[in-house]
Amino acid sequence: MKTRAAVVYEPGKRIEVEELDLDGPREGEVLIRYTHAGLCHSDIHVAHGDLEARLPMVLGHEGAGIIEEVGPGVTRVAPGDHVVCSFIPNCGVCRYCATGRQSICDMGATILEGYLPGERFPITGPRGQYGAMCMIGTFSQYGVISQTSTIKVDDDLPLDKAVLVGCGVPTGWGSAVNTANVAPGDTVAIYGIGGIGINAVQGARYAGAKNVIAIDPLENKREKAMELGATHAFATADEAQEAITEMTRGQGADSAILTVDLMTAEVVAAGFNAIGKGGVVVVTGLNKVMEQTIQLSGTILTLFRKSLKGSLFGDCNPTTDIPKILGLYQAGDLKLDEIITRTYTLDEVNEGYEDLLAGKNVRGVIVHEH
Ligand SMILES: NC(=O)c1ccc[n+]([C@@H]2O[C@H](COP(=O)([O-])OP(=O)(O)OC[C@H]3O[C@@H](n4cnc5c(N)ncnc54)[C@H](O)[C@@H]3O)[C@@H](O)[C@H]2O)c1
Ligand SMILES: [Zn+2]
Ligand SMILES: [Zn+2]
Repeated sequence: MKTRAAVVYEPGKRIEVEELDLDGPREGEVLIRYTHAGLCHSDIHVAHGDLEARLPMVLGHEGAGIIEEVGPGVTRVAPGDHVVCSFIPNCGVCRYCATGRQSICDMGATILEGYLPGERFPITGPRGQYGAMCMIGTFSQYGVISQTSTIKVDDDLPLDKAVLVGCGVPTGWGSAVNTANVAPGDTVAIYGIGGIGINAVQGARYAGAKNVIAIDPLENKREKAMELGATHAFATADEAQEAITEMTRGQGADSAILTVDLMTAEVVAAGFNAIGKGGVVVVTGLNKVMEQTIQLSGTILTLFRKSLKGSLFGDCNPTTDIPKILGLYQAGDLKLDEIITRTYTLDEVNEGYEDLLAGKNVRGVIVHEH
């Protein structure tokens, strides 16, 4: 069958929307009709070449849709099921899945190659075989993906909102709740309030933090953070540092969660300085793989017993945490509607990313047409 999809051919070039060929689902695979896709910053990292992916690649790794057809051996979902995609597949049986660390499932090894197990490329077109971002490629009307990337959700959930729980929400929420392990009464500083950071704010608040400090140079982001649970907001790390020192009587924050778009050594140092003894810095935002974004005093790390942790998919387990987070949304404890700034058609994908880079969007969402 045919599908229209947004493709990156060359780093730094515009994203092209074109018609491609899609093979039917084979063993363990499903055909999904994507209804919605979120515009996360990680796709821009691929388009800009910060994250070096195999090209051409169909972008998009935040997605929701409806299962149209399943291949042999598929047990997790059935035709008609509403699903949210997980940008990290989870096989359930590798060493990491089997020990409760699904976000580092071995199947994630090829998320930037974009093919399914067995170097299988269901999408082909004028330039040969096309990979799919995170093995899902949600900026496409249809996809053939592994069942391990799909999580069935309740039919009555609005997919236009639930779509955010494929990446931005679990990544941010989990960076606070799981990786930073925020506890009641904590002081938490969050650097960068985009689609990821706003959910770290929501996670920290829900976990009971006393002080949730949002840091972003953009006023609209700071306002949104205050609306969704931040107790303080600052334009710069220096201003935040001063306030944190004062509000903790010199003890420093319990955790610093770094969710800026392009991670730098300065941001990591700011987070490291903001935390006190026993504190933790969570590094969630990305940069080029070989960029040295961590330059710190190891002696201070030791003497203050600080720690520094990377967080992928917020250390969430897609199978249990996607439905759990959606349950919090249904109960009103987590906001999704409020973090969608604008919707776009697939053809407006470049405009969507221009808006993101111009600082206008907390999250933009593509609404697919069929
Ligand atoms: N680890 C993971 O699992 C994972 C998952 C998804 C995305 N990411 C990464 O997380 C990062 C954030 O993604 P996003 O979609 O939220 O991006 P975004 O563009 O929506 O938000 C980034 C925000 O950071 C702010 N910012 C930039 N420099 C800053 C600074 N020095 N101090 C404070 N704020 C600053 C920007 O103003 C913006 O509001 C990206 O690098 C993305 O690739 C990681
Ligand atoms: Zn993402
Ligand atoms: Zn696994």
